[in-house]
Amino acid sequence: MPGIVPDEGSKGAKLVLIGEAPGEWEDRYCRPFVGPSGQRWESWLGRFGLARSDFYIANVWQQRPHLNRIETVNREALLEAVDDLHERLAALTDPWLIVPTGNTALRALMGRALWGKDSPKITDWRGSILGYEDRKGRVVKVIPTLHPAFTLREPGAERACLHDWKRVAKDSRFRELRLPH
Ligand code: URA
Repeated sequence: MPGIVPDEGSKGAKLVLIGEAPGEWEDRYCRPFVGPSGQRWESWLGRFGLARSDFYIANVWQQRPHLNRIETVNREALLEAVDDLHERLAALTDPWLIVPTGNTALRALMGRALWGKDSPKITDWRGSILGYEDRKGRVVKVIPTLHPAFTLREPGAERACLHDWKRVAKDSRFRELRLPH
């Protein structure tokens, strides 16, 4: 039975990364984003002057799913995990910018149905700037992006990620939501 992989990072972090669920390496080391996806992600950060330690790192589902497939997780349990994620985000001191990676993280954060044909797709929302109202009533900037694991399967997608992470780096310097006119 896989164990819980807890969130990592300071509760005072300005930046938040949200993934889907731990994989094999995360389960083994009991730390989020330490396997190939995490290494890919950290390589992007370095290019834009950011570091892993700048982030509070969370997963929607905190255990490695059967066959690494989030679809195998019981829907009720997943909705409870989403609720818990919102609580954990509300416990952060003063987050400025949240980056959900992939469909599950985007849907969990923005409160849409986790599955279903009308659920928002990360490919439609990536790179845009959104606002998330947390359970304390604070509005936090959100820049969704593709999950790094996707670029391991589809190397052509890395370009879009680099574009998004460059924007994250720029937007990490100020708190406000400056929407394009
Ligand atoms: N993928 C995720 O979504 N989270 C991790 O922690 C590792 C890989």
